[in-house]
Amino acid sequence: MNQLTGKVAVITGAGSGMGAAIARLFAQEGASLALLDLNEQHAKEIAAECAGYGTNTSYHAADVTDSDGVRAAVVAAAAEHGGIDILVNSAGILDETPFLEMSPETFDRTLEVDLKGVFLSCRWAAPEMVKRGGGRIINIASQLGIKGGVNLAHYTAAKAGVIGFTKSLALELAPHHILANVIAPGPIVTPLIDGLSPDWKAAKQAELPIGRFGQAHEVAPTALLLASSPGGDLYTGQTLGPNSGDVMP
Ligand SMILES: NC(=O)c1ccc[n+]([C@@H]2O[C@H](COP(=O)([O-])OP(=O)(O)OC[C@H]3O[C@@H](n4cnc5c(N)ncnc54)[C@H](O)[C@@H]3O)[C@@H](O)[C@H]2O)c1
Repeated sequence: MNQLTGKVAVITGAGSGMGAAIARLFAQEGASLALLDLNEQHAKEIAAECAGYGTNTSYHAADVTDSDGVRAAVVAAAAEHGGIDILVNSAGILDETPFLEMSPETFDRTLEVDLKGVFLSCRWAAPEMVKRGGGRIINIASQLGIKGGVNLAHYTAAKAGVIGFTKSLALELAPHHILANVIAPGPIVTPLIDGLSPDWKAAKQAELPIGRFGQAHEVAPTALLLASSPGGDLYTGQTLGPNSGDVMP
């Protein structure tokens, strides 16, 4: 317990799913939290829950596609908590669109949120970590970014982009003692996949060696490993896969 005492973590997409589960676990481990999300009501509910663990928690309204908004939220979080040590990028969107019907706008929108949003949060949070003499960046991609997916060309392009982007950060930010890694989960039961077709879910479940989808709280410990010391000290540029065995790189 209390592996993150004295640390400040910014978590995007903290109002739901894996972002919320990571916020809860980090709060239990003593981190101060700045929760970023578009959905104010959900994020404030998670912030109140986290504050119940005795941790200092703030909510910052931000759309991760809005550079000025993300920058303002990150600066406000650093001012309120005295700096930033950990960034978790969990904000994301997903829809199924057949490639032969995919509009450039649909492709762009997914890339904006799922890839550029990660860039923006990292771009504005990393300088705060440099000021602290180090930090941890944890980007949530997807195992689909490694293996591809039917009707998901836009999503898989974004997630593969997050993996490559994070490797570059790992190389470039290592001299600043900032470690950057990816979590590439398999299918996890959250509101994000509510809209996927029953056929897709049944076929996916049948493919999984573990035979079931994961729960958000089963992914959070991977984020804790990467955020903590000494557990996370030797990981950078890595892609960890809590994925029910869906991908074995
Ligand atoms: N659920 C899965 O099966 C699964 C699998 C692999 C990867 N992922 C990835 O994990 C991450 C978290 O997914 P989840 O399943 O917890 O989803 P979720 O839908 O439960 O939560 C996503 C959160 O992101 C927020 N968000 C969306 N767009 C935003 C924006 N533009 N700005 C700020 N916040 C925004 C939403 O309000 C929501 O609170 C996503 O990046 C997703 O692609 C999910």
